[in-house]
Amino acid sequence: MKIRYTASIILFLVISYCRAQTIIPIETKDFAMVFQTDSQNRLWNVYFGKKLDNKSDYQQIDKHYYFPSSNAGMYNAAYTPSGTWNLSEPALQVKHFDGNLSTELHFVNVETQIKNEETITKIELTDPVYKLTVVLNYKVWSNLNVVEQWTDITNNENGTIELGKYASANLYFTNKDFYLTHFQGEYLKEMQPTEEKLTQGIKTIESKLGTRAMLLGTPNFIVSFESPQDEDNGLVLLGQLAWSGNYKIDFEIDSYKNLRLIAGINPYESNYSLKKEETFKTPSLIYSISNKGTGLASRQLQSWAKKYRVLDGEGDRLTLLNNWEATYFDFNESKLSKLFKDTKDLGLDLFLLDDGWFGNKYPRNNDDAGLGDWQENRKKLPNGLGYLVKEAKKNKVKFGIWIEPEMVNPESELFKNHPEWVIKQPERPAKLYRNQMVLDLTNPEVQNFVFNIVDTLFTQNPEIAFIKWDCNAVIYNAYSVYQQQNGIPQTHLYVDYVLGLYKVLERIREKYPKVPMMLCSGGGGRADYEFLKYFTEFWPSDDTDPIERIFLQWNYSYFFPAITMDCHVTNWGNQPVKLKVDVASMGKLGFDVDVSHMDGKDLDFTKRAIKNYNGFKHMVLHGEQYRLASPYENPFAALMYVEENQSQAIMFNYLSSNRFMERVTKRPIKLKGLHNDKKYRVKEINLYPDTKSTIDETAVYSGNFLMTVGINPEIDVKRTSVVLLINEVE
Ligand code: DGJ
Repeated sequence: MKIRYTASIILFLVISYCRAQTIIPIETKDFAMVFQTDSQNRLWNVYFGKKLDNKSDYQQIDKHYYFPSSNAGMYNAAYTPSGTWNLSEPALQVKHFDGNLSTELHFVNVETQIKNEETITKIELTDPVYKLTVVLNYKVWSNLNVVEQWTDITNNENGTIELGKYASANLYFTNKDFYLTHFQGEYLKEMQPTEEKLTQGIKTIESKLGTRAMLLGTPNFIVSFESPQDEDNGLVLLGQLAWSGNYKIDFEIDSYKNLRLIAGINPYESNYSLKKEETFKTPSLIYSISNKGTGLASRQLQSWAKKYRVLDGEGDRLTLLNNWEATYFDFNESKLSKLFKDTKDLGLDLFLLDDGWFGNKYPRNNDDAGLGDWQENRKKLPNGLGYLVKEAKKNKVKFGIWIEPEMVNPESELFKNHPEWVIKQPERPAKLYRNQMVLDLTNPEVQNFVFNIVDTLFTQNPEIAFIKWDCNAVIYNAYSVYQQQNGIPQTHLYVDYVLGLYKVLERIREKYPKVPMMLCSGGGGRADYEFLKYFTEFWPSDDTDPIERIFLQWNYSYFFPAITMDCHVTNWGNQPVKLKVDVASMGKLGFDVDVSHMDGKDLDFTKRAIKNYNGFKHMVLHGEQYRLASPYENPFAALMYVEENQSQAIMFNYLSSNRFMERVTKRPIKLKGLHNDKKYRVKEINLYPDTKSTIDETAVYSGNFLMTVGINPEIDVKRTSVVLLINEVE
């Protein structure tokens, strides 16, 4: 892997050769992970916890722990090999060039590269018998407790080797008890949390879906040490495998009751061959560590994401009107012109044209035909996209468009012309998912095709201002004609699909670095920090019932900042429009409604709420988020966003369950993140027409009061959502 850093490469000074052992601490702002070699130069993970004041003290650690290598062999290896005397779950399995299956890893060298706030530590290991090099990479940011970790595996042997398992990270924790929160679900019920105490054995979270990796379960997790996770207390590690395909994360309580965590690409049907001198770079495991609970862990991860990871993470976002639920496939130019006017009238920035605009021989009038034929449908859009872009402009709104470039309907010209471009077992009947199949992105020609869909849209219509990139099928019958014809093993398919997709996205971003793109996948099937290098935002779920969204958005917020989360108001859920708009305002606001069906008061409210959103969105998009009251513990939820200088904040309060017709907030809710000594006034905004606020706007509170006693938003069945603006009083 080429290192682009210009800063000088310095040898890691902290290496201590005391007792002929090398000690390597990986330090974040407050924590440390420490590795140590033994007399045979094997590398062990000996500490995870608060960092010590003096680096020399790390030498004293290991003798206070019990790390025997009997039983299953290596439990706390820095990267656990297999095939020798290790019998525990490995991080690495290799078939060497001569067919031998055994691997040992010895420490070779460590170096550190520093560039601005980033420090990368690279620990090189090698097999004493085979010329196999493994480099463990740890990237930290001086001001945060966030680690990005990945592994480079290089084959210097005399021929091709085959990787059976090639984890990104292998962590080891020594605590009394461990609790795991993971997030599973299904379509429309994505990201449902389950917390469990880990007991001896392996708990695995994984995906084998090929694409839309998060549909049924997600590569996000929270490990809480000693006790169940808490928003404000306790040591937690909140992590994600940043890989957009099959993942597998194992949490193993070993026979000494310690926790081994091995995370990486799912080895399922994915043996990967490496030719001589080739390197495989694994995806990254990214984690945030906090000893003040999940609240701080999330804020650290969110800050990291906005500053260092998400495309345009510190930029603005466009509010929009999407026509999907307003029209589905049934639209024409005049219907769309009306929607442009509605977009403007509501005060939104952009109109987003969804599915159904393409296909002629096989018109896309339903989801069973046309996917793959990316030419404007002449019947619906006789004047083409150019005309629509101009019409939108006339109405002073921007224009965005939906594509689903990785997929194809069998009823399409694309499929008829290129059946070999589709992933499918040659001798078996096709199995469709939403009437479609997945294109073979391991094939460079298919990569070009997908790139050209986007490139053509932009070259023909340079003013297109937004792309919604959808993905509505999983990979069934995994088989690639391209790989078969080019002598590439079929077990590369799942991995090379994702790498092919990244290649396309890389090309798109080289040419169009900034155009906002939404990552959609029929719901929460896709969102991770590798994708979010290329996308500005993602669609968390097709479920837009505001009550469900309170829970969903709450759960996503553990891992993603609000600026990345597309939250739309739709007709889903028999709930007041105020609740819908207020819930969607805790993320990136959008609408998917037919304005002509809205009653006068609802419309009036919505327009004012959009104006208000534009006034406070800087806090939602760029501020610090504090979760105040969980809908899992209360019949309501409350959360707030605070401006960096603590002079302004916005608090959202929602009724999430109304079994009893009564006032639900009987006590004040404590605010967080304000300045203790500043004075604030609290004002209720987003009031529905003809209703009055029950909040006393004239009262002045100290930050200390609001964070110690709190404020009662007075939620009840008539006030199902309350938005409070908190302004510093000069
Ligand atoms: C699934 C998406 O989640 C919807 O918003 C919409 O774009 C449809 N696909 C279109 O087919």
